[in-house]
Amino acid sequence: MWDSPKSADFALGEIHFRLQNGFMTLITLGNNPMMNIPFVDLKSQYHSIKAEVHPAIERVLENTAFILGQDVKDFEERFARFCQAKHCVGVSTGSAALVLALKVLGIKPGDEVITAANTYIATSAAITLAGGRPRFVDVDPETYNISTDLLRKAITPKTKAILPVHLYGQPADMKVISEIAEEKGIDIVEDAAQAHGSEAYGKRVPFTNIGCFSFYPGKNLGAYGDGGAVVTNRDDLLDKLKVYRDQGRRIGEKYVHDLEWTNERLDNVQAAILNVKMNHIEQWTDARRRNAKKYNELLSSVNVVTPAEATFAKHVYHLYIIQLPPSASRDMVMQKLKDKGIATGIHYPVPLHLQPAYQYLGISKGALPVAERLASSILSLPMFPELTEEQMQYVAEELGKIVG
Ligand SMILES: Cc1ncc(COP(=O)(O)O)c(C=O)c1O
Repeated sequence: MWDSPKSADFALGEIHFRLQNGFMTLITLGNNPMMNIPFVDLKSQYHSIKAEVHPAIERVLENTAFILGQDVKDFEERFARFCQAKHCVGVSTGSAALVLALKVLGIKPGDEVITAANTYIATSAAITLAGGRPRFVDVDPETYNISTDLLRKAITPKTKAILPVHLYGQPADMKVISEIAEEKGIDIVEDAAQAHGSEAYGKRVPFTNIGCFSFYPGKNLGAYGDGGAVVTNRDDLLDKLKVYRDQGRRIGEKYVHDLEWTNERLDNVQAAILNVKMNHIEQWTDARRRNAKKYNELLSSVNVVTPAEATFAKHVYHLYIIQLPPSASRDMVMQKLKDKGIATGIHYPVPLHLQPAYQYLGISKGALPVAERLASSILSLPMFPELTEEQMQYVAEELGKIVG
C-alpha cells in the first residue's frame, strides 16, 4: 500500500525527463530536474522502522493492554531519562500536557501567565483552559524566542507563571527566565512541544521543573496519532498529574475520584510506537542538526536570513525557518517553490495577540512589532532527518533563483 510508483529521471543536456510507470515525461528545461520535496516525510521514516513498529503494535494487540499498560510505563521511564529529568507522565496530547501542568500548579481565575506572542495557539489556550489569562510578550529578533527584557517588564502582581516556548526546537534563554521567576516567586512551565532533546546551557529541556511535550506525528518524536507528556523533577506533582490525566481517579482505586477532570491518558499503542522511536531519536536529532548546517551553508549566498543558534542553546530544528527579504512577496515565493515541487509552510502567519480569539485582550496591531514583522516574513523550508543533500541543494538553488 505504501510503495511509491517506480520512477527514474534522465537528462539529455539541459533537458530532463522522468520515466514513470512506463511513460516518459518532460520535467524541466533548466539546470535542475524537477524534484518533489515534501515538507516532512513521515512515510520514509515509517519504512525505515517498519520491521520494529509492526511487532510492537502486534504485541499490544495480543496482550489487549490498551490503557496505561506496560508500554506507557516503559515509555515514561525512557523519556524522563532522555530529558535528564525525574518523572514523565504520558498524556493524550501536547495541549493536554500544558493544561495539566498549569492545573497542578494551581492556576486560578485572575492569574496571569506570560507567554510569547508567536507560538501555536495550544500554548495560550492552555492558559485559558486551566483558568488563567494569557499575557503576550514580544520576542527576540535573533532567536524568535520570548524577549527576557520584555518578560521582566511584563510581570505584574497578578503574574503566577511564565510559559516560555522553545520555538522551532531552540530553547528560550532559560537561565535568565529562571532567575526572573525565582526573584519574583513565580512558576515556570516550559512548552517543549517542538524541542525534544534540545539543550539550554548544556541541560536538556525542561531546564527547570516542568516541561510539556507533544508527540503529534510530525514532531521530532512523533506518534502515529496524538500523544503528549509532562516531564517534571518535582516529586510532589507526580501523583497529581496522574490523577488529573485519569479523570480525577485516586491512584490504586477504581471508583474513587478526588476531583473532576477529563480523560487525557496516553494510549498504549502510541506508547509502543514511541518506544520504538526512542531507539532512533538521537540519530534523527543529529540528522536534523546536520541538515540545518547544510542549509545554512547552501543559503549563505541567498538573500534570506537563516536561523541563529544561541550560544547557550542546542537547537533540534523541528522547523527550519528563514526570513525572506522585505521586497519578496511570500505568497509568490511559496507558489514558485510549489511549482518546482517544494513544499513550504508558515509557522505562524498571525501572531496570537492579533487572532480573533484574543480580541478580548484589546491588544492592537503594532503592539508587539517583532512578532508581527516575523509573522509576515518567515518561511519554513522542508526539514526532516531523511532530507538528502541533493534535496537541500535543489531547495537552495530554486529559492536563490526566486529571491536572488
Ligand atoms: C508550541 C506548541 N505547543 C503546543 C502544541 C500542542 O501539541 P498537540 O498538537 O500535541 O496538542 C504544539 C503542537 O502543534 C506546539 O507546536
